[in-house]
Amino acid sequence: MTELTFDAPTVIRTKRDGGRLSDAAIDWVIAAYTDGRVAAEQMSALLMAIFLRGMDRREVARWTAAMLASGPRLDFTDLGLRTVDKHSTGGVGDKITLPLVAVVTACGAAVPQASGRGLGHTGGTLDKLESIAGFSASLTNQRVREQLRDIGAAIFAAGELAPADAKLYALRDVTGTVESLPLIASSIMSKKLAEGADALVLDVKVGSGAFMNSEAESRDLAHTMVEIGTAHGVPTRALLTDMDSPLGRTVGNSLEVQEALDVLGGGGPPDVVELTVRLATEMLELAGIDDADPAQTLRDGTAMDRFRRLIAAQGGDLAKTLPIGGCSETVTASRSGTMGTIDAMAVGLTAWRLGAGRSRPGARVQHGAGVRIHRRPGEPVAAGEVLFTLYTETPERIGPALAELDGAFTVGDAPPRPKPLIIDRITR
Ligand code: URA
Repeated sequence: MTELTFDAPTVIRTKRDGGRLSDAAIDWVIAAYTDGRVAAEQMSALLMAIFLRGMDRREVARWTAAMLASGPRLDFTDLGLRTVDKHSTGGVGDKITLPLVAVVTACGAAVPQASGRGLGHTGGTLDKLESIAGFSASLTNQRVREQLRDIGAAIFAAGELAPADAKLYALRDVTGTVESLPLIASSIMSKKLAEGADALVLDVKVGSGAFMNSEAESRDLAHTMVEIGTAHGVPTRALLTDMDSPLGRTVGNSLEVQEALDVLGGGGPPDVVELTVRLATEMLELAGIDDADPAQTLRDGTAMDRFRRLIAAQGGDLAKTLPIGGCSETVTASRSGTMGTIDAMAVGLTAWRLGAGRSRPGARVQHGAGVRIHRRPGEPVAAGEVLFTLYTETPERIGPALAELDGAFTVGDAPPRPKPLIIDRITR
């Protein structure tokens, strides 16, 4: 397909005016954007049109297939491993990938995990891991294969897999076009199908910190992705999980790595442990492994051992102190009572304002920026005690970050109504 058949302004206008994009138009625009024939400002306009007008299921499926076709698709079948992966739709304090990969490999499956960077108010696995001195996520395909064979896991920048997603992801992050069902579904599924795992578990977030506003939209996202995975021959299931409050007690790159290490050491916040074990159970079931106990690998140190080997294989040095922002500020309780809900979106934006995320493509993130949550929902609070600590390298960021956190939590007389962390399981 060439510019004689298609041109970007026409494709943009079609979607802007609420039309549907033909298969051929989708194939053309994705290929042309990937190799530079469609400019970033044109793709930005198209992304905004998709954000505002949406796409039907067939358009999403084709958009995903075109992104998948923009690069190679890895294949590990010759290694004789049981490969399985998970991906989250994006949350606040969501460090689950770190302990999860280690737990699942300790239980006998292999995890080829193509990861992304922070997106909007949510953190990204690669930004978190890069706060470990020396860690590199730029792995050749050959290196990924070797690690899968030797350690059972590799966590790598999707890079040349689904290169269309690498470009679109960075563009969406800075053009206000992240929170779109078709764009999220295609972004996730194109890289996950390209990475070559035999099966896939999706953690679809629901609540204030999720990209989708309502549970109904999150369900729709889950069904769309499960359908795409299944259509491509990859058994796929999804858990709908709560993201009204941040996961765990930390939000921000190095803070989250430390919390993941706490979980791997047999401790850590109960919600992070619960979600890790539940997702591991789903992944192991899909991998056909029914004689393993994921929780036990956290207690007996075998998951920690895997994590250490994985980080070392990718150049990381866990003996070096994790960075923490040199400038800090606390938020204290104005009264005694019980911590109510903590708005995940506001805390995510607070961390982003502190420097944990980006506002320009390719900008450097501050690995030591973020928020420590001292009192979780339902925990008792004494007047004057510290509820949150904010960290950054840039003192001027503290004011805007505090403004973001203002009104994001309540301290009341009664605990908030308990909510389940796992809301539903979607298998088709
Ligand atoms: N994770 C992704 O990889 N892409 C999105 O769009 C959202 C979460």
